[in-house]
Amino acid sequence: MSDAPNIAADNRHRVPRPAHVPPELVRDIDMYALDGIETGYHEAWKALEQETPELVWTPLTGGHWIAMRGPLVREIYEDPSRFSSEVIFLPKEAGEKYAMVPTRMDPPEHTPYRKLLDTGLNPKRIREVEELVRTSAARLIEPLVAKGKCEFSNDFAKTFPVHVFMAMAELPLSDVPKLSRFAEDMTRPKGDTPDEMAECLDAANKGFFEYVEPYIEARKGGNGTDLITTMVNGTVNGEPMPRDKALGLISLLLLGGLDTVVNFLGFMMLYLARHPDKVAEIRGDDMKLRRGVEELFRRFPVVSEARMSAKDQTFHGVELKQGDMVLLPTVLHGLDENENPDPWTLDWERKGPRHSTFGGGPHRCAGLHLARLEATVTLQEWLKRIPEFSLSPGAHPVYHSGIVAAVDDIPLTWPTA
Ligand code: HEM
Repeated sequence: MSDAPNIAADNRHRVPRPAHVPPELVRDIDMYALDGIETGYHEAWKALEQETPELVWTPLTGGHWIAMRGPLVREIYEDPSRFSSEVIFLPKEAGEKYAMVPTRMDPPEHTPYRKLLDTGLNPKRIREVEELVRTSAARLIEPLVAKGKCEFSNDFAKTFPVHVFMAMAELPLSDVPKLSRFAEDMTRPKGDTPDEMAECLDAANKGFFEYVEPYIEARKGGNGTDLITTMVNGTVNGEPMPRDKALGLISLLLLGGLDTVVNFLGFMMLYLARHPDKVAEIRGDDMKLRRGVEELFRRFPVVSEARMSAKDQTFHGVELKQGDMVLLPTVLHGLDENENPDPWTLDWERKGPRHSTFGGGPHRCAGLHLARLEATVTLQEWLKRIPEFSLSPGAHPVYHSGIVAAVDDIPLTWPTA
Protein backbone atom coordinates (compact mmCIF):
# COMPACT_ATOMS: atom_id res chain seq x y z
CA MET A 1 0.00 0.00 0.00
CA SER A 2 3.02 2.29 -0.27
CA ASP A 3 1.35 4.19 -3.13
CA ALA A 4 -1.40 5.58 -0.89
CA PRO A 5 -0.91 9.12 0.41
CA ASN A 6 -1.60 8.67 4.11
CA ILE A 7 -1.06 5.05 5.07
CA ALA A 8 0.26 4.98 8.61
CA ALA A 9 2.81 2.42 9.77
CA ASP A 10 0.75 0.49 12.32
CA ASN A 11 -0.45 -3.04 12.88
CA ARG A 12 -4.03 -2.61 11.76
CA HIS A 13 -5.38 -5.31 9.45
CA ARG A 14 -5.31 -4.07 5.84
CA VAL A 15 -6.31 -5.71 2.58
CA PRO A 16 -4.41 -5.14 -0.68
CA ARG A 17 -5.74 -2.50 -3.07
CA PRO A 18 -7.78 -4.18 -5.84
CA ALA A 19 -6.62 -3.41 -9.39
CA HIS A 20 -9.68 -1.29 -10.22
CA VAL A 21 -9.06 1.13 -7.31
CA PRO A 22 -6.86 4.06 -8.41
CA PRO A 23 -4.06 4.77 -5.88
CA GLU A 24 -5.01 8.47 -5.66
CA LEU A 25 -8.40 7.52 -4.18
CA VAL A 26 -6.91 5.50 -1.30
CA ARG A 27 -7.24 6.94 2.21
CA ASP A 28 -6.51 5.26 5.55
CA ILE A 29 -9.90 5.70 7.24
CA ASP A 30 -10.93 3.31 10.02
CA MET A 31 -14.68 3.70 10.66
CA TYR A 32 -14.34 1.96 14.04
CA ALA A 33 -11.31 3.99 15.22
CA LEU A 34 -11.46 7.34 13.47
CA ASP A 35 -8.33 9.46 13.54
CA GLY A 36 -9.06 12.47 15.75
CA ILE A 37 -12.04 10.83 17.50
CA GLU A 38 -10.90 12.34 20.82
CA THR A 39 -11.95 15.78 19.48
CA GLY A 40 -15.50 14.53 18.82
CA TYR A 41 -17.19 12.05 16.48
CA HIS A 42 -18.67 14.61 14.07
CA GLU A 43 -15.51 16.71 14.17
CA ALA A 44 -13.33 13.68 13.33
CA TRP A 45 -15.36 12.74 10.24
CA LYS A 46 -15.41 16.33 9.00
CA ALA A 47 -11.64 16.63 9.46
CA LEU A 48 -11.16 13.44 7.40
CA GLU A 49 -13.42 14.82 4.69
CA GLN A 50 -11.22 17.89 4.11
CA GLU A 51 -9.60 17.84 0.72
CA THR A 52 -10.62 14.27 -0.08
CA PRO A 53 -12.32 13.36 -3.38
CA GLU A 54 -16.06 12.65 -3.09
CA LEU A 55 -15.46 8.90 -3.20
CA VAL A 56 -12.42 7.30 -1.51
CA TRP A 57 -11.32 3.73 -0.79
CA THR A 58 -9.82 2.48 2.48
CA PRO A 59 -7.84 -0.76 2.93
CA LEU A 60 -9.11 -1.00 6.54
CA THR A 61 -12.21 -2.87 7.80
CA GLY A 62 -11.95 -5.40 4.97
CA GLY A 63 -11.48 -2.73 2.27
CA HIS A 64 -14.38 -0.52 1.16
CA TRP A 65 -15.38 2.74 -0.52
CA ILE A 66 -16.65 5.75 1.44
CA ALA A 67 -19.09 8.40 0.15
CA MET A 68 -17.52 11.62 1.45
CA ARG A 69 -20.21 14.21 0.50
CA GLY A 70 -23.85 14.67 1.49
CA PRO A 71 -25.45 14.46 -1.98
CA LEU A 72 -23.55 11.23 -2.66
CA VAL A 73 -24.76 9.66 0.59
CA ARG A 74 -28.33 10.57 -0.35
CA GLU A 75 -28.02 9.39 -3.96
CA ILE A 76 -26.78 5.95 -2.91
CA TYR A 77 -29.46 5.51 -0.24
CA GLU A 78 -32.14 6.37 -2.79
CA ASP A 79 -31.09 3.96 -5.53
CA PRO A 80 -31.43 0.27 -4.59
CA SER A 81 -31.15 -0.75 -8.27
CA ARG A 82 -27.49 0.33 -8.28
CA PHE A 83 -26.73 -0.02 -4.54
CA SER A 84 -28.15 -3.09 -2.88
CA SER A 85 -28.91 -3.69 0.79
CA GLU A 86 -27.73 -7.29 0.44
CA VAL A 87 -24.92 -6.41 2.88
CA ILE A 88 -25.14 -3.23 4.98
CA PHE A 89 -22.66 -3.65 7.84
CA LEU A 90 -18.87 -3.47 7.58
CA PRO A 91 -16.58 -5.33 7.51
CA LYS A 92 -18.42 -7.30 4.83
CA GLU A 93 -17.55 -10.56 6.61
CA ALA A 94 -19.54 -9.29 9.62
CA GLY A 95 -22.31 -7.87 7.41
CA GLU A 96 -22.84 -11.30 5.90
CA LYS A 97 -23.58 -12.68 9.39
CA TYR A 98 -26.09 -9.93 10.17
CA ALA A 99 -29.52 -11.52 9.87
CA MET A 100 -31.99 -8.79 10.77
CA VAL A 101 -35.14 -8.38 8.65
CA PRO A 102 -35.95 -6.48 6.41
CA THR A 103 -32.82 -4.30 6.32
CA ARG A 104 -30.95 -6.72 4.01
CA MET A 105 -33.77 -7.02 1.49
CA ASP A 106 -34.15 -4.98 -1.69
CA PRO A 107 -37.52 -4.10 -3.19
CA PRO A 108 -39.82 -5.79 -4.08
CA GLU A 109 -39.00 -8.44 -1.40
CA HIS A 110 -38.61 -5.66 1.19
CA THR A 111 -41.97 -3.95 0.52
CA PRO A 112 -44.48 -6.20 2.41
CA TYR A 113 -42.19 -6.39 5.46
CA ARG A 114 -41.92 -2.63 5.47
CA LYS A 115 -45.72 -2.31 5.33
CA LEU A 116 -45.92 -4.50 8.40
CA LEU A 117 -43.32 -2.43 10.26
CA ASP A 118 -45.30 0.71 9.45
CA THR A 119 -48.46 -0.73 11.02
CA GLY A 120 -46.67 -0.78 14.38
CA LEU A 121 -44.69 2.46 14.10
CA ASN A 122 -46.86 4.85 12.04
CA PRO A 123 -47.62 8.38 13.34
CA LYS A 124 -51.03 7.37 14.72
CA ARG A 125 -49.59 4.46 16.73
CA ILE A 126 -46.84 6.71 18.02
CA ARG A 127 -49.31 9.42 19.11
CA GLU A 128 -50.99 6.73 21.22
CA VAL A 129 -47.79 6.18 23.22
CA GLU A 130 -47.05 9.87 23.84
CA GLU A 131 -48.24 9.67 27.45
CA LEU A 132 -46.05 6.64 28.10
CA VAL A 133 -43.06 8.45 26.58
CA ARG A 134 -43.72 11.57 28.67
CA THR A 135 -44.17 9.67 31.92
CA SER A 136 -41.00 7.65 31.29
CA ALA A 137 -38.99 10.86 30.78
CA ALA A 138 -40.49 12.66 33.78
CA ARG A 139 -39.87 9.67 36.06
CA LEU A 140 -36.17 9.68 35.24
CA ILE A 141 -35.69 13.45 35.44
CA GLU A 142 -37.63 14.10 38.70
CA PRO A 143 -35.14 12.40 41.06
CA LEU A 144 -32.21 14.22 39.42
CA VAL A 145 -33.52 17.77 39.89
CA ALA A 146 -32.58 18.28 43.58
CA LYS A 147 -29.14 16.69 43.07
CA GLY A 148 -27.98 19.53 40.85
CA LYS A 149 -25.91 17.17 38.75
CA CYS A 150 -25.97 13.92 36.78
CA GLU A 151 -24.03 11.91 34.26
CA PHE A 152 -26.46 12.30 31.37
CA SER A 153 -25.42 9.20 29.48
CA ASN A 154 -26.01 6.71 32.32
CA ASP A 155 -28.67 8.64 34.24
CA PHE A 156 -30.95 9.37 31.29
CA ALA A 157 -29.89 8.59 27.70
CA LYS A 158 -29.11 4.90 28.22
CA THR A 159 -32.34 4.36 30.11
CA PHE A 160 -35.15 6.50 28.69
CA PRO A 161 -35.58 5.22 25.10
CA VAL A 162 -34.96 1.70 26.33
CA HIS A 163 -37.71 1.96 28.97
CA VAL A 164 -40.09 3.32 26.34
CA PHE A 165 -39.28 0.57 23.91
CA MET A 166 -39.48 -2.25 26.46
CA ALA A 167 -42.90 -0.95 27.54
CA MET A 168 -44.12 -0.77 23.91
CA ALA A 169 -42.94 -4.34 23.34
CA GLU A 170 -44.08 -5.50 26.82
CA LEU A 171 -40.66 -6.91 27.71
CA PRO A 172 -39.16 -6.95 31.23
CA LEU A 173 -36.81 -4.11 32.13
CA SER A 174 -34.49 -6.58 33.87
CA ASP A 175 -33.41 -7.80 30.40
CA VAL A 176 -32.12 -4.39 29.33
CA PRO A 177 -28.41 -4.84 30.27
CA LYS A 178 -28.21 -8.06 28.24
CA LEU A 179 -29.93 -6.54 25.20
CA SER A 180 -27.83 -3.37 25.37
CA ARG A 181 -24.69 -5.54 25.31
CA PHE A 182 -25.92 -7.36 22.20
CA ALA A 183 -26.76 -4.03 20.54
CA GLU A 184 -23.29 -2.68 21.27
CA ASP A 185 -21.61 -5.82 19.89
CA MET A 186 -23.60 -5.43 16.68
CA THR A 187 -23.03 -1.74 16.07
CA ARG A 188 -19.44 -1.51 17.35
CA PRO A 189 -18.23 -5.15 17.09
CA LYS A 190 -14.99 -6.07 18.88
CA GLY A 191 -12.00 -7.62 17.13
CA ASP A 192 -8.82 -6.75 15.24
CA THR A 193 -9.63 -8.54 11.99
CA PRO A 194 -12.77 -8.79 9.83
CA ASP A 195 -13.17 -12.43 10.92
CA GLU A 196 -12.96 -11.58 14.63
CA MET A 197 -15.50 -8.78 14.18
CA ALA A 198 -17.78 -11.13 12.23
CA GLU A 199 -17.61 -13.62 15.11
CA CYS A 200 -18.57 -10.94 17.65
CA LEU A 201 -21.49 -9.70 15.53
CA ASP A 202 -22.69 -13.23 14.83
CA ALA A 203 -22.77 -14.07 18.55
CA ALA A 204 -24.75 -10.90 19.31
CA ASN A 205 -27.18 -11.56 16.44
CA LYS A 206 -27.75 -15.11 17.74
CA GLY A 207 -28.19 -13.65 21.24
CA PHE A 208 -31.03 -11.45 19.98
CA PHE A 209 -32.68 -14.37 18.17
CA GLU A 210 -32.51 -16.68 21.22
CA TYR A 211 -33.92 -13.89 23.35
CA VAL A 212 -36.93 -13.08 21.15
CA GLU A 213 -37.88 -16.65 20.18
CA PRO A 214 -39.96 -17.54 23.29
CA TYR A 215 -41.78 -14.19 23.12
CA ILE A 216 -42.67 -14.79 19.48
CA GLU A 217 -44.03 -18.26 20.28
CA ALA A 218 -45.99 -16.98 23.28
CA ARG A 219 -47.59 -14.09 21.40
CA LYS A 220 -48.56 -15.90 18.21
CA GLY A 221 -52.33 -15.84 17.90
CA GLY A 222 -52.60 -13.36 20.80
CA ASN A 223 -54.73 -10.23 20.66
CA GLY A 224 -52.50 -7.84 22.64
CA THR A 225 -51.63 -4.43 21.25
CA ASP A 226 -47.91 -4.53 22.07
CA LEU A 227 -45.40 -4.20 19.24
CA ILE A 228 -44.36 -7.86 19.20
CA THR A 229 -47.94 -9.20 19.08
CA THR A 230 -48.76 -6.72 16.30
CA MET A 231 -45.79 -7.86 14.23
CA VAL A 232 -45.88 -11.62 14.72
CA ASN A 233 -49.56 -11.79 13.83
CA GLY A 234 -49.18 -9.63 10.75
CA THR A 235 -49.08 -11.13 7.29
CA VAL A 236 -46.58 -10.85 4.47
CA ASN A 237 -48.10 -11.08 0.98
CA GLY A 238 -51.22 -12.52 2.65
CA GLU A 239 -49.30 -15.33 4.38
CA PRO A 240 -48.23 -15.65 8.05
CA MET A 241 -44.65 -14.48 8.52
CA PRO A 242 -42.10 -17.37 8.37
CA ARG A 243 -40.39 -18.11 11.71
CA ASP A 244 -36.87 -17.04 10.63
CA LYS A 245 -38.21 -13.75 9.27
CA ALA A 246 -40.14 -13.08 12.49
CA LEU A 247 -36.95 -13.62 14.51
CA GLY A 248 -35.09 -11.13 12.30
CA LEU A 249 -37.84 -8.53 12.31
CA ILE A 250 -38.45 -8.46 16.07
CA SER A 251 -34.70 -8.45 16.73
CA LEU A 252 -34.28 -5.48 14.37
CA LEU A 253 -36.93 -3.54 16.27
CA LEU A 254 -35.01 -4.13 19.50
CA LEU A 255 -31.73 -3.10 17.90
CA GLY A 256 -33.27 0.00 16.27
CA GLY A 257 -34.99 1.07 19.45
CA LEU A 258 -32.01 0.49 21.75
CA ASP A 259 -28.82 2.08 20.45
CA THR A 260 -29.66 4.95 18.09
CA VAL A 261 -31.80 7.26 20.23
CA VAL A 262 -29.54 6.63 23.25
CA ASN A 263 -26.55 8.07 21.44
CA PHE A 264 -28.37 10.78 19.55
CA LEU A 265 -29.67 12.15 22.88
CA GLY A 266 -26.15 12.08 24.33
CA PHE A 267 -24.72 14.17 21.47
CA MET A 268 -27.68 16.55 21.63
CA MET A 269 -27.42 17.26 25.36
CA LEU A 270 -23.65 17.58 25.27
CA TYR A 271 -23.98 20.32 22.64
CA LEU A 272 -26.77 22.12 24.51
CA ALA A 273 -24.78 22.01 27.77
CA ARG A 274 -21.95 23.77 25.92
CA HIS A 275 -24.29 26.29 24.22
CA PRO A 276 -26.58 27.87 26.85
CA ASP A 277 -27.58 30.53 24.28
CA LYS A 278 -29.21 27.77 22.20
CA VAL A 279 -31.13 26.53 25.24
CA ALA A 280 -32.27 30.09 26.01
CA GLU A 281 -33.70 30.37 22.48
CA ILE A 282 -36.21 27.54 23.04
CA ARG A 283 -36.84 27.95 26.79
CA GLY A 284 -40.52 28.95 27.08
CA ASP A 285 -41.08 28.68 23.31
CA ASP A 286 -42.59 25.26 22.79
CA MET A 287 -43.46 25.93 19.15
CA LYS A 288 -39.83 26.75 18.32
CA LEU A 289 -38.67 23.66 20.19
CA ARG A 290 -41.04 21.35 18.32
CA ARG A 291 -40.21 22.88 14.94
CA GLY A 292 -36.49 22.69 15.69
CA VAL A 293 -36.33 18.96 16.35
CA GLU A 294 -35.62 18.20 12.67
CA GLU A 295 -32.61 20.53 12.90
CA LEU A 296 -31.35 18.46 15.86
CA PHE A 297 -31.44 15.35 13.69
CA ARG A 298 -29.54 17.21 10.97
CA ARG A 299 -26.89 18.39 13.39
CA PHE A 300 -26.28 15.09 15.22
CA PRO A 301 -26.30 12.13 12.80
CA VAL A 302 -24.99 8.91 14.38
CA VAL A 303 -25.37 6.11 11.80
CA SER A 304 -22.80 4.86 9.22
CA GLU A 305 -24.08 1.86 7.31
CA ALA A 306 -23.13 0.63 3.86
CA ARG A 307 -24.53 -0.46 0.54
CA MET A 308 -23.18 -3.04 -1.89
CA SER A 309 -22.62 -2.18 -5.55
CA ALA A 310 -25.30 -4.24 -7.35
CA LYS A 311 -23.26 -4.44 -10.57
CA ASP A 312 -20.07 -3.36 -12.25
CA GLN A 313 -20.68 0.33 -12.88
CA THR A 314 -19.06 3.73 -13.30
CA PHE A 315 -20.30 5.98 -10.54
CA HIS A 316 -19.31 9.66 -10.54
CA GLY A 317 -16.39 8.73 -12.79
CA VAL A 318 -15.18 5.91 -10.52
CA GLU A 319 -15.19 2.25 -11.50
CA LEU A 320 -17.06 0.07 -8.98
CA LYS A 321 -17.18 -3.73 -9.16
CA GLN A 322 -20.29 -5.75 -8.30
CA GLY A 323 -19.96 -6.61 -4.58
CA ASP A 324 -17.85 -3.53 -3.69
CA MET A 325 -19.01 -2.02 -0.42
CA VAL A 326 -19.66 1.73 0.01
CA LEU A 327 -19.88 3.23 3.51
CA LEU A 328 -22.45 6.02 3.95
CA PRO A 329 -21.46 8.22 6.93
CA THR A 330 -24.70 10.17 7.49
CA VAL A 331 -22.66 12.75 9.44
CA LEU A 332 -21.20 13.94 6.13
CA HIS A 333 -24.67 14.85 4.85
CA GLY A 334 -26.12 16.86 7.74
CA LEU A 335 -22.80 18.68 8.17
CA ASP A 336 -22.16 19.27 4.43
CA GLU A 337 -21.72 23.06 4.05
CA ASN A 338 -23.03 22.99 0.49
CA GLU A 339 -26.27 21.40 1.68
CA ASN A 340 -26.67 23.35 4.94
CA PRO A 341 -24.86 26.70 5.21
CA ASP A 342 -23.00 27.19 8.53
CA PRO A 343 -23.60 23.51 9.34
CA TRP A 344 -21.97 23.46 12.82
CA THR A 345 -24.50 25.99 14.13
CA LEU A 346 -27.74 24.62 15.52
CA ASP A 347 -30.29 26.97 13.98
CA TRP A 348 -33.70 26.17 15.46
CA GLU A 349 -35.33 28.08 12.59
CA ARG A 350 -33.28 26.66 9.72
CA LYS A 351 -35.49 26.28 6.65
CA GLY A 352 -35.68 22.68 5.39
CA PRO A 353 -32.59 21.17 7.02
CA ARG A 354 -31.09 18.58 4.64
CA HIS A 355 -29.79 15.33 6.06
CA SER A 356 -29.70 11.53 5.81
CA THR A 357 -29.75 10.93 9.56
CA PHE A 358 -32.62 8.47 9.08
CA GLY A 359 -31.20 7.07 5.84
CA GLY A 360 -33.27 7.47 2.67
CA GLY A 361 -35.06 5.54 -0.05
CA PRO A 362 -37.10 2.42 0.72
CA HIS A 363 -35.34 1.66 4.02
CA ARG A 364 -35.70 5.16 5.50
CA CYS A 365 -35.97 4.67 9.27
CA ALA A 366 -39.27 3.06 10.23
CA GLY A 367 -38.87 4.36 13.80
CA LEU A 368 -38.40 8.06 12.98
CA HIS A 369 -41.78 9.16 14.38
CA LEU A 370 -40.89 7.51 17.67
CA ALA A 371 -37.39 9.01 17.59
CA ARG A 372 -38.85 12.51 16.96
CA LEU A 373 -41.29 12.13 19.83
CA GLU A 374 -38.55 10.96 22.19
CA ALA A 375 -36.28 13.90 21.30
CA THR A 376 -39.11 16.43 21.67
CA VAL A 377 -40.32 15.03 24.98
CA THR A 378 -36.79 14.85 26.40
CA LEU A 379 -36.28 18.56 25.77
CA GLN A 380 -39.74 19.56 27.00
CA GLU A 381 -39.63 17.56 30.23
CA TRP A 382 -35.97 18.41 30.95
CA LEU A 383 -36.29 22.17 30.44
CA LYS A 384 -39.52 22.25 32.48
CA ARG A 385 -37.55 21.02 35.50
CA ILE A 386 -33.95 21.98 34.69
CA PRO A 387 -34.14 25.19 32.65
CA GLU A 388 -30.40 25.95 32.88
CA PHE A 389 -27.56 23.45 32.84
CA SER A 390 -23.93 23.21 31.79
CA LEU A 391 -21.11 20.73 31.35
CA SER A 392 -19.24 20.11 34.64
CA PRO A 393 -15.76 21.68 34.77
CA GLY A 394 -13.05 19.18 33.78
CA ALA A 395 -15.49 16.98 31.85
CA HIS A 396 -13.96 14.72 29.21
CA PRO A 397 -16.67 13.14 27.08
CA VAL A 398 -15.50 9.91 25.41
CA TYR A 399 -16.49 9.30 21.79
CA HIS A 400 -16.77 6.02 19.88
CA SER A 401 -17.24 5.55 16.15
CA GLY A 402 -18.91 2.61 14.43
CA ILE A 403 -22.16 1.69 12.74
CA VAL A 404 -23.80 3.75 15.46
CA ALA A 405 -21.56 6.41 17.05
CA ALA A 406 -21.60 6.80 20.83
CA VAL A 407 -20.65 9.35 23.48
CA ASP A 408 -20.07 8.56 27.17
CA ASP A 409 -19.15 10.63 30.23
CA ILE A 410 -21.40 13.68 29.95
CA PRO A 411 -21.41 15.17 33.49
CA LEU A 412 -23.97 18.00 33.76
CA THR A 413 -24.56 20.51 36.57
CA TRP A 414 -27.32 23.04 37.32
CA PRO A 415 -28.35 25.40 40.09
CA THR A 416 -30.64 23.93 42.80
CA ALA A 417 -33.23 25.77 44.85
C1 HEM B 1 -32.15 8.97 16.42
C2 HEM B 1 -32.69 7.78 16.25
C3 HEM B 1 -32.58 6.94 15.03
C4 HEM B 1 -31.73 7.01 13.97
C5 HEM B 1 -30.62 8.03 13.74
C6 HEM B 1 -32.06 5.93 13.06
C7 HEM B 1 -31.44 5.70 11.85
C8 HEM B 1 -31.82 4.75 10.93
C9 HEM B 1 -31.25 4.58 9.61
C10 HEM B 1 -30.10 5.40 9.05
C11 HEM B 1 -31.91 3.58 8.99
C12 HEM B 1 -31.69 3.07 7.56
C13 HEM B 1 -31.03 1.72 7.51
C14 HEM B 1 -30.73 1.30 6.08
O1 HEM B 1 -31.16 1.92 5.12
O2 HEM B 1 -29.99 0.31 5.90
C15 HEM B 1 -32.90 3.08 9.92
C16 HEM B 1 -33.77 2.04 9.68
C17 HEM B 1 -34.63 1.51 10.61
N1 HEM B 1 -34.88 2.00 11.88
FE1 HEM B 1 -34.07 3.67 12.69
N2 HEM B 1 -33.09 5.19 13.60
C18 HEM B 1 -33.44 5.78 14.79
C19 HEM B 1 -34.43 5.36 15.65
C20 HEM B 1 -35.20 4.23 15.48
C21 HEM B 1 -36.18 3.76 16.43
C22 HEM B 1 -36.55 4.43 17.73
C23 HEM B 1 -36.70 2.63 15.92
C24 HEM B 1 -37.78 1.84 16.58
C25 HEM B 1 -37.92 0.63 16.56
C26 HEM B 1 -36.05 2.39 14.63
C27 HEM B 1 -36.31 1.34 13.78
C28 HEM B 1 -35.80 1.20 12.50
C29 HEM B 1 -36.18 0.12 11.59
C30 HEM B 1 -37.18 -0.98 11.88
C31 HEM B 1 -35.45 0.32 10.40
C32 HEM B 1 -35.46 -0.55 9.15
C33 HEM B 1 -36.37 0.00 8.10
C34 HEM B 1 -36.32 -0.80 6.80
O3 HEM B 1 -35.40 -1.60 6.57
O4 HEM B 1 -37.24 -0.61 5.98
N3 HEM B 1 -35.15 3.38 14.41
N4 HEM B 1 -32.84 3.81 11.08
